[in-house]
Amino acid sequence: DGRILDGSGDMSSPLKHFTNAKKRINNIFLDIGKYIGEFSSFIDDVEKNDDETAVVDDMVRNDILASLEKVNGIKDMISRNHMKVVFFGRTSNGKSSVINAMLWDKILPSGIGHTTNCFLSIAGCNGDGKNGDDTKGYLLCGETEERRGIGSVTQLSHALSQESMSSDSQIQIFWPKTKCPLLKDDVVLVDSPGIDVSSDIDQWIDNYCLDADVFILVANAESTLMLVEKKFFHQVNEKLSKPNIFILNNRWDASASEPELMEEVRQQHLERGISFLADELKVVTKQQAKDRVFFVSAKEALQTRRNKLNGKPDNTANMAEGHQARLMEFAKFEHEFEECISQSATRTKFEYPSQRASRIIDALYSRAQWLHERSTQLIQEGNNQKMYLEGRLEDIDFKMKFITQQCKESIANLATEAERQVRRAMTD
Ligand code: GTP
Ligand code: MG
Repeated sequence: DGRILDGSGDMSSPLKHFTNAKKRINNIFLDIGKYIGEFSSFIDDVEKNDDETAVVDDMVRNDILASLEKVNGIKDMISRNHMKVVFFGRTSNGKSSVINAMLWDKILPSGIGHTTNCFLSIAGCNGDGKNGDDTKGYLLCGETEERRGIGSVTQLSHALSQESMSSDSQIQIFWPKTKCPLLKDDVVLVDSPGIDVSSDIDQWIDNYCLDADVFILVANAESTLMLVEKKFFHQVNEKLSKPNIFILNNRWDASASEPELMEEVRQQHLERGISFLADELKVVTKQQAKDRVFFVSAKEALQTRRNKLNGKPDNTANMAEGHQARLMEFAKFEHEFEECISQSATRTKFEYPSQRASRIIDALYSRAQWLHERSTQLIQEGNNQKMYLEGRLEDIDFKMKFITQQCKESIANLATEAERQVRRAMTD
């Protein structure tokens, strides 16, 4: 699979499970909203005609309106849903570099020393005309709503280096979807300051991690997993049930300078990583943990990808022995990551809302059924002579029958269909 090797195509991307499910479910919710809307206007119609009728009371009408509102709320929530991945690790381990490599460009500032000093999220934008064309991104800093336009990667780094923000605040970067496949597929990436420079990890977790689908621990392959890193993930594990965690042993290019120790070091890191995930945190089995630990060089991956984008040949003479294998491992990591985030986000972000919609519709269906029974009963009793004579009760009865059926066949089916789509997206 060429994509696995260079990460270039996206037709087969596992992220499509999520984006396709989102599209399909969104359409289904549009239909549900439409049907409930029709139901509601029919009820209004009945009301308008029958001042003194006891068939439809305010409660029923309000119920229907409330259902419509709820369904629209769920629909909005679904259309705002995205997949979120957060990166943590000690200062200078290469968190920002890993993100840049995944985005194929030097979007975030990286460098030696303490570089990233607040949370940075990167999400895709369409270029909605507010800031000119599709090629432009923008920044939102802190709580302000003011968009600051950004044209190029250089301008972006400049703008970011001008900001002085506290370590628990956030800058949101919106970068054109057309420029990065990950952003096009609704992934939001969050970079963080080194976990060794913060005193308020709890706050960080509450503010930025509770809705994260995947956590990536960027470790330094030149040293080993540190207590501060382990402690952080223990805290995450206390607040979230079974978080999805990947461990990237970054700076693996350094191993090339000590080839005689390479295998031994790799084995040691691998065992410690697996044991941390499986024995300590107990978030995966030992077998699964093997697919969660990788040995990469973000620096090389970024360099190679930028060259590729710019049509330049790789200067392999500058690269340490074994870089090809490290590039492949980076792409393998991305593939596993995409599978994981897509599955997890589809389940947590669509399954519950679809089930909720099903319950709302079930309630609506009982309402329509009740109305139908009530109008039938009124006809039989014939106790509203005026309406009976005008044939309006029959009309109501007929329409209610129709609406009940429509509710059953269309709306309820759609809700089940939404749930089915979620399951299908997960097994595709
Ligand atoms: P802070 O933002 O300060 O917390 O650091 P960070 O974790 O974001 O690290 P950053 O990406 O800024 O990288 C720190 C330095 O390490 C930079 O000079 C990178 O070029 C370098 N670096 C990152 N990844 C690698 C790698 O895989 N190999 C090598 N040799 N250097 C790397
Ligand atoms: Mg950084």
